[in-house]
Amino acid sequence: MNAAILGYGTVGKSVFRLLERVEGISVRYVLELPDRLNESYMVSDPEVIFTDKDVDIVIDALPGTHPSYEYIKRALECGKHVVSSNKAAICFGFEELNKLAGEKGVSLLYEASCGGTIPIIEEILRIGKLDAIDKVYGILNGTCNYILWQMDKNSMDYGEALSLAQKAGYAEADPRADVSGFDVRNKIIILSSLAFDSFLEQDIPTVGIERIDKDLLCRFRSEGKVIKLLGMAVCSGSSYALAVAPAAIPETALEAGVPENFNMISFNGEYSGEIKLYGQGAGGDPTADAVVRDVEKILYKDPAEYGRTFEKKPGYDPALLRGTCHVGDQIYPDSVLSDMALKAEKEGKSFVFEFNA
Ligand code: HSE
Repeated sequence: MNAAILGYGTVGKSVFRLLERVEGISVRYVLELPDRLNESYMVSDPEVIFTDKDVDIVIDALPGTHPSYEYIKRALECGKHVVSSNKAAICFGFEELNKLAGEKGVSLLYEASCGGTIPIIEEILRIGKLDAIDKVYGILNGTCNYILWQMDKNSMDYGEALSLAQKAGYAEADPRADVSGFDVRNKIIILSSLAFDSFLEQDIPTVGIERIDKDLLCRFRSEGKVIKLLGMAVCSGSSYALAVAPAAIPETALEAGVPENFNMISFNGEYSGEIKLYGQGAGGDPTADAVVRDVEKILYKDPAEYGRTFEKKPGYDPALLRGTCHVGDQIYPDSVLSDMALKAEKEGKSFVFEFNA
């Protein structure tokens, strides 16, 4: 099979290197910027890739929603299998791209889009076939975890920790997507849609870590709690709620010990009970590992993951996520997360949700 890699940044380069270990696949093209075409296989016109009938798999390693979404769509329309690490583009066109892949009978795989190297999508799909999953939550952004971990452990300033995360290649091209919680929003929507068997609401409460400072971390530490940015999704009967917010969790919780760029994602099945997966959620090599596992699925003709369709239509009820909320110095017990997050936003104050798994 022949593959083309869209993008030759941190992830694209790692994918290129790792694919050299896979027998039966060769990289025919790499899409690069016009001023960086220094190898014979590099092209800057994506149409060269989409219209070449010998290209079987298009690997999207681009950042941001556009033009990645348009490229995925075009590749599927041209009958190519697509593997993407791009959560923003996959989340943006989730229902439409799945439908298109189904119509064209090609695979659309995106394991690397959520949790880097962690095989979370595979496990949610495998377990969700039999079991009813009613909760998905976790640390889903390596950059934010790295920043909060550095600030907490080394009493580092936010700006210093962010620039270290950028240097390590964890952050998005525009790190605002990380620190604003937008990146986690995309990931929790993708994961919980697969877990709850439905295309879910995209307009969800999303609070980032920009207003978390060293003093706030210290204050919660003195009460035996650690702040982590969590994506949270719960389903109860025919209703569900999703949110992204800084969460105070007990120091004894496994999530509290998650260091550096690592992610920890949990889900709860009716029969399985709670399952936690842990690994590097950001960085070129760990992400490439998940991309290449998806490529191998296509290559070895594992039961192909064509576009998904969902039967269920649960209702969005933000009130399902409730608990103690901190808006600045004020504490609001038993409150709805979405209401309090909005209040904090309006008042320009920090927001922390006390999360009990
Ligand atoms: N910027 C993302 C993160 C990359 O830090 O988690 C992986 O999705």
